[in-house]
Amino acid sequence: MFEKVTAAPADPILGLTEEFRNDKRSHKINLGVGIYKNDAGETPILNTVKKAEQILLETEKTKNYLSIEGLAEYGQLVQQLLFGAQSDIVTSQRAKTAQAPGGTGALRIGAEFLSRQQLSRKVWISNPTWVNHFQVFGAAGMETAEYTYYDPLTRGLNFDGMLNSLAAAQEGDVVLLHGCCHNPTGIDPSQAQWEQLAQFCAERKLLPFFDFAYQGFARGVDEDATGLRIFAKHHREMLVASSFSKNFGLYNERVGAITLVTDSADVAQVAFSQIKTTIRANYSNPPAHGASIVSTVLKDPQLKAEWEDEVRQMRDRIWEMRKLLVSKLKEHGVCQDFSFMTEQNGMFSFSGLDKAQVARLKEEFAVYIVGSGRISVAGITTQNIDALCEAIAQVI
Ligand code: LMR
Repeated sequence: MFEKVTAAPADPILGLTEEFRNDKRSHKINLGVGIYKNDAGETPILNTVKKAEQILLETEKTKNYLSIEGLAEYGQLVQQLLFGAQSDIVTSQRAKTAQAPGGTGALRIGAEFLSRQQLSRKVWISNPTWVNHFQVFGAAGMETAEYTYYDPLTRGLNFDGMLNSLAAAQEGDVVLLHGCCHNPTGIDPSQAQWEQLAQFCAERKLLPFFDFAYQGFARGVDEDATGLRIFAKHHREMLVASSFSKNFGLYNERVGAITLVTDSADVAQVAFSQIKTTIRANYSNPPAHGASIVSTVLKDPQLKAEWEDEVRQMRDRIWEMRKLLVSKLKEHGVCQDFSFMTEQNGMFSFSGLDKAQVARLKEEFAVYIVGSGRISVAGITTQNIDALCEAIAQVI
């Protein structure tokens, strides 16, 4: 019967990584997938992760199953990182958090919970967005709609357009928001815009669902939660899918979390039981290693401070690469002004390169970037930047 199956198209991001791996050219550069690389082009294991693993090696006593929602202390630590330790959301227990296999797993659990409980049928997603959002919400049975986000003329946020398109949303619809470092544009709302947006969504009774995968990569771990915390002031209910793939470099451990914020501890208890049912029906209970590492670091003030410094170092290197990219493009004879790249946050830069230019970069120069023109700045190094700029100069 399997001969009836037709081939699926390659994934626009992970499919590109596969192509890159198969490319025999030694000078190839992968700026497709969002993975941090140091200046030697390696994706290192953080020192604090190594330290936590050493502690776990010496103290772990069992590999028994975790509970359906995962490590209890992990949920608390995630909430503190999201909302701040003093937030009433944390202290009143009106939020519940479950471990999830990465940010994607968290999004899927949240989406399936909303869909199966018939709480909401439609989710509004930014245009453009991370391509997998459509698949995740669609697979959970939700209808998807798009709201305006990017203005190609100003290369910035089209905030009026965003509000205009969200004005068509109905009470109870979900609005998917990127907590910081918008993927793929790198453009985030200002504090005043977050305030206005939060009020706008609250007035229309729209349900915020935050995808928060890059905390720490824009300005700082606390600073990057500004938008989320503003929403938390205006909305008693929301969902947050968060991830430690990037800020702990725990990509292959798949460590994320789904947090359900409700109006009271009692409501949280009951509603969360359905999140647990969703998890049980998908993968029963989560793996322990990644979440144990994160908990070991976050609960120890000294390790936590060291980790924040490691995040700062990653963030600073990406800012340096942004600035260098802009100046090197000029050096390589590119007249077009790329200074907008230093206004964007996080790992990605929306370059404005079109599909044909992206294809030429790959075919002629072995430079891999996503079809939308998204460049993973986190993969640029002082070793590959000249070849990259020369290739870009040739295609534009
Ligand atoms: C990305 O956008 O490159 C990352 O979030 C990795 C992925 O799974 O697509």
